Amino acid sequence: MVGSVGCSRNPGGPVTGPSGTSSRDKAITTTSMTVPKLDARAFIPVSVIAFLIAPTFATRTPRKQAHRDMSVPTFTFNNGVEVPAIAYGTWQSPPEQLPRAVEYAIKEAGYRHIDCAWGYRNEKAVGEGIKASGIPRSEIFITSKLWGTWHQRVEQCLDETLADLGTNYLDLYLMHWPIPLNPNGNHFMIPTRPDGSRDIDESWDIVDTWKQMEALLKKGKVRAIGVSNMSQKKLESFLPKVEVVPAANQLELHVYNPDHALVSYLKSEGILVQAYSPLGSSGSPLISNGTVVKIAEKYDGLTPADVLLGWLLSKDLEVITRSLSPERMTSNIKGSVAASKALTQEDIEILDGIAAAGKQKRLVTPPWGVDLGFDNWPVKATA
Ligand SMILES: NC(=O)c1ccc[n+]([C@@H]2O[C@H](COP(=O)([O-])OP(=O)(O)OC[C@H]3O[C@@H](n4cnc5c(N)ncnc54)[C@H](OP(=O)(O)O)[C@@H]3O)[C@@H](O)[C@H]2O)c1
Repeated sequence: MVGSVGCSRNPGGPVTGPSGTSSRDKAITTTSMTVPKLDARAFIPVSVIAFLIAPTFATRTPRKQAHRDMSVPTFTFNNGVEVPAIAYGTWQSPPEQLPRAVEYAIKEAGYRHIDCAWGYRNEKAVGEGIKASGIPRSEIFITSKLWGTWHQRVEQCLDETLADLGTNYLDLYLMHWPIPLNPNGNHFMIPTRPDGSRDIDESWDIVDTWKQMEALLKKGKVRAIGVSNMSQKKLESFLPKVEVVPAANQLELHVYNPDHALVSYLKSEGILVQAYSPLGSSGSPLISNGTVVKIAEKYDGLTPADVLLGWLLSKDLEVITRSLSPERMTSNIKGSVAASKALTQEDIEILDGIAAAGKQKRLVTPPWGVDLGFDNWPVKATA
């Protein structure tokens, strides 16, 4: 089993340290924790290894070795809370498969950060998996998100999430989208107007949503608060009006949508970037991208998925990735850390340039019907 990625924290949930303060000036730092060696070669005499690998080197061009027994990094939020840099995602995962998957992810694959949301409608199943893992709550970092129909009643939404997950606090609570929806509309999640457009509550200001989130932080029900899907344009009008600077902004980020300018802006504001859909989500075109495949082929033991995840980690961006396959859950941790250390500056620059070379594409674009302020949001998704 991969070792603990958690950090010691107060299981009762009261916010410790400078939580709740507006600390833009604190840099995001990384620390690392040791993962026990899984490499069976550790038990084989060196002379035997040399004999086994010699013919390989003689018959083909040597490739750079990506060592897989690496340490898993953590990041530190602007309020001092530490967060494991690789999270297990739960979007679109069927509730009937999730208890076993989450249990495996925590107990066997070694994830200590689970990314959830009220809107995924599967938090009860996630909670069952967390409980079945047997790992103490204090060693698991749990993120969840406030859905749009709850902006006016933030604590009620959080309480539903806490009850479903079977915990009395969250490590991170995010505003899922900066879009308040009509809480009394024709649907509990995606209310629509007679013309079919999404029923946005235009009378509600997300700054008031945030004030309610700040109150939860002060109460100790969440250890950090953040946003998701917030563009620089939105943040520039939002930040001057709020007391607590968001700890994180969870965004669609991958080689087809690297959003370099937004990432630099967030780093300058001390807001941690969490990359969602880093593999390009279900049916991804990224894994078979020629450039990504070619870079993976340079390194023994690295897959295209490892390269996609490692590229983000190497830039100090958190990754949230989903898999229901035990093998891929495990390899996504070990491979991404290995790739983050193996990729050269040249590899990183090539990966950085894929979108600008003609591949720019967002893959998660709900038709909100309002301008979120992103440069590269497809026009048809807002129509
Ligand atoms: N804040 C937001 O608005 C927002 C939006 C979207 C996502 N998220 C979060 O981010 C998480 C990750 O994003 P995502 O779920 O869209 O997708 P993702 O992690 O980019 O991709 C998941 C897909 O890739 C496959 N996969 C996983 N590991 C692989 C590997 N090593 N090789 C090949 N294929 C692999 C999975 O299939 P298998 O299961 O078969 O492995 C699945 O189909 C979500 O689950 C959610 O927690 C947040």
